[in-house]
Amino acid sequence: MASPENKSRVVAIVIALVLAAPLSAAPGGQNASTAVTGATQPARDGYVGDGACLRCHAETVDSFHKTTHYLTSSEPSATTVLGQFTSGNNILKTANPGLYFRMEEHRTNGGQPSFSETAVEGDAPDTTSQTERMDVVIGSGEKGQTYLYWKGDKLFELPVSYWANLGWVNSPGYRDGYADFDRPIIPRCLECHATYFESRPPPMNRYSPAGYSLGIQCEVCHGPGREHVALEASKSVRGSTPGVAAGSSSGILNPARFPRERQMDLCAWCHAGLGWPLKPAFSYRPGEVLEKYVDLPPPGNFAPADVHGNQVGMLEKSVCYRSSNMTCLTCHDVHVTQHDVAYFSGKCLTCHKPDSATFKKPGHPVTNNCIHCHMPRQNTNLIVFNFDGKRMTPQMRNHWIKVYPGTQAPVANR
Ligand code: HEC
Ligand code: HEC
Ligand code: HEC
Ligand code: HEC
Ligand code: HEC
Ligand code: HEC
Ligand code: HEC
Repeated sequence: MASPENKSRVVAIVIALVLAAPLSAAPGGQNASTAVTGATQPARDGYVGDGACLRCHAETVDSFHKTTHYLTSSEPSATTVLGQFTSGNNILKTANPGLYFRMEEHRTNGGQPSFSETAVEGDAPDTTSQTERMDVVIGSGEKGQTYLYWKGDKLFELPVSYWANLGWVNSPGYRDGYADFDRPIIPRCLECHATYFESRPPPMNRYSPAGYSLGIQCEVCHGPGREHVALEASKSVRGSTPGVAAGSSSGILNPARFPRERQMDLCAWCHAGLGWPLKPAFSYRPGEVLEKYVDLPPPGNFAPADVHGNQVGMLEKSVCYRSSNMTCLTCHDVHVTQHDVAYFSGKCLTCHKPDSATFKKPGHPVTNNCIHCHMPRQNTNLIVFNFDGKRMTPQMRNHWIKVYPGTQAPVANR
């Protein structure tokens, strides 16, 4: 076998934090499955799905369904699988000259196409191959996506992923130059990228092939909706129904009314790094104390905290955060897609008012873009590609709001 260290024409991608870490041993020498073995997922009562909200919240549903939260996992289809299948664009060469991958789209008369990945090893005519179907798509594709396949009731990661602007790349966690289809998908991966997967007894990548629900849907953040739907449908009983969840007057959770720590917990569930599971995946309910469910790296002093995947850890280092009641919701409305830096700059100015006595005023004239200087895009060391022999790191928005060395304060226009 040729040296996998040969980097020419190689694309290797490592998303160390979210993808590689879970499979290694825990700090205490335990392993992810034993940590939560014996505990079973709580009963899944009262969930009705996004379709049930459509009747009364059509606008919200419509707009939310265009966000990356909703699009973060899906069934494979011509629109959801973003890689190219046309001849010439469907091959990924590897560090090993005796191994390449071929991605194919299979059209059936009338029905949805199916998609597959094939590893071809050896020199023609003596080649061997393994083909597996793409069964689940993970990632909206804003940055990239990874594909999973079922072997019986076990879920595995496919060896080839898609990365925006680059196309097909070696999947995270797989060694370049090897045909490996054996990387198990742990529950925490699905917990961050889907609404629900029903786990089966170990090994940890066993799930019910019929018991899952893709995309992050409304009830992930709002809790089960059946009671609310019933209440709203029969207005007369509103407010008088026993058993309505705490913090809710409407039979459904509204995170706007959570205390600050619980609002942060909701986002930290998926935006504070991988952590260590203490209870089975999909047990956490919004409004509860997260640290009983996932042991997350302590914010602030945890050195490897990175701009990737840990917006909570970075934001919590900010003086803004420590000196105010700021939460993620100060700037983000998760029901809409937001990329306008002028809009976000307006959020800075809600506190840093030019005439405010409470908050520090910028020592410079107020422009409409605070973001480029105080929340710059930076390379993340947790996502590393080798592309054509070059080390490449994608950029993420740094959520540590501060004065960055090397930036110059804006000066007034004359
Ligand atoms: C039959 C109509 C109806 C359906 C179906 C419905 N809602 Fe509502 N919902 C309402 C109305 C009306 C309000 C406004 C109530 C109010 O002002 O307190 C509301 C309020 C809410 C609130 C804010 C609650 C609060 O206490 O502040 C949330 C969150 C919510 N809905 C989510 C959902 C979700 C998620 C679904 C689907 C699972 C859904 N709704 C289905 C009618 C409905
Ligand atoms: C990623 C988490 C998340 C998801 C998913 C989510 N929401 Fe929300 N929702 C929130 C938060 C946080 C708030 C409170 C702050 C706010 O209004 O932005 C909220 C507030 C609401 C409210 C009250 C708004 C108001 O103005 O009082 C409604 C209604 C609502 N959501 C409906 C929905 C519906 C319908 C869906 C699915 C189509 C959905 N949400 C999906 C997090 C979420
Ligand atoms: C169940 C897990 C989960 C929860 C809870 C969650 N997120 Fe996310 N969020 C994700 C994932 C996964 C993505 C990346 C989706 C993708 O591109 O595939 C994401 C993406 C985002 C983005 C990027 C949107 C874009 O268009 O680029 C923002 C902003 C965001 N989340 C904010 C929040 C906030 C604020 C909260 C808390 C109210 C929250 N999220 C709660 C999992 C979650
Ligand atoms: C702790 C929660 C968490 C876990 C576990 C996790 N992810 Fe993610 N993932 C995220 C968040 C949040 C983002 C986007 C924001 C970011 O990168 O900070 C993301 C981004 C991605 C993206 C890029 C999506 C895009 O287009 O923007 C892919 C692909 C992805 N994850 C795949 C996976 C796979 C496959 C696994 C499991 C083997 C996994 N992730 C485990 C939270 C998680
Ligand atoms: C002070 C305002 C502010 C706060 C508070 C804030 N964000 Fe952001 N966030 C931004 C801006 C600005 C962007 C960049 C938007 C863009 O350029 O598309 C962003 C982007 C993101 C992204 C996309 C990441 C990327 O690099 O593409 C995620 C995920 C996200 N925020 C999550 C969160 C979470 C989770 C919290 C709470 C811990 C939070 N944000 C708090 C302003 C904020
Ligand atoms: C919820 C209120 C709030 C918001 C929103 C907010 N800040 Fe702040 N910020 C503060 C407070 C409070 C301080 C520190 C107290 C002081 O010195 O007045 C601070 C401090 C700062 C500092 C000094 C940081 C340091 O390390 O000393 C900078 C720079 C800053 N903010 C920029 C911004 C930018 C840029 C935004 C928008 C992306 C923003 N802030 C959003 C409240 C806020
Ligand atoms: C071109 C880059 C740039 C832009 C744009 C910018 N800042 Fe600054 N900001 C700086 C630099 C550099 C400093 C530190 C030197 C100074 O105070 O003059 C600073 C200082 C600050 C401080 C005071 C921090 C301290 O410790 O004194 C605050 C608050 C602040 N900026 C907020 C903002 C807000 C709000 C915006 C948008 C309305 C903004 N900045 C736009 C570069 C920028």
